[in-house]
Amino acid sequence: KTHKVAVLVGSLRKASINRKLALALAELAPASLQLEIVEIGELPLYNEDIDVDPAPPAYSAFRAKLKGADALLFVTPEYNRSMPAPMKNAIDVGSRPYGQSAFSGKPGAVLSASPGAMGGFGANHHLRQCMVFLDVHMMQQPEAYLGGAGSFFDDSGTLSDGIKPFLQKFIDAYAAWVAKHA
Ligand code: FNR
Repeated sequence: KTHKVAVLVGSLRKASINRKLALALAELAPASLQLEIVEIGELPLYNEDIDVDPAPPAYSAFRAKLKGADALLFVTPEYNRSMPAPMKNAIDVGSRPYGQSAFSGKPGAVLSASPGAMGGFGANHHLRQCMVFLDVHMMQQPEAYLGGAGSFFDDSGTLSDGIKPFLQKFIDAYAAWVAKHA
């Protein structure tokens, strides 16, 4: 069976390393996984006052895409030792209305990447903690805090040989995790 994976990317910029990593993971993924980036950049900042019936169309469309997926994959940079605001906003939008979270019970994983040395450890763990609360079954190993990400892609956008084996290992482990928990 092929499992659909909703991929959320925490950076909105065009040249995002994390977006490139998400696309590379989609290429490397085994046939059992179908990865699709679900965009989060146009979601209005979460506000309970606007999240009434009918919900803002952007909220409804986003929630429907998450609900239509079998699994979740978060690929994110770190901003000020946490996840970027658009990612947290997307998590908040997907978690509501109360009792109808689009995340519950799904398998998930998080990969963080930074040009710095610590690989977005803080963002990775904050995001993981949100998912623990939201009852997402987060893959534990391999952990993915990718430092030195400034050299992962050359000017033509080609993935470096240095990081490719780890990405392959990560996505293969994730495929096994999804097969077990979806
Ligand atoms: C950053 N950056 C950063 N990096 C890091 O390792 N830890 C951090 O806490 C922060 N904080 C931070 C805050 C803000 C507001 C910005 C704009 C940037 C640097 C960040 O890792 C770098 O810009 C990455 O390239 C962003 O990821 P994308 O956009 O390339 O995917």
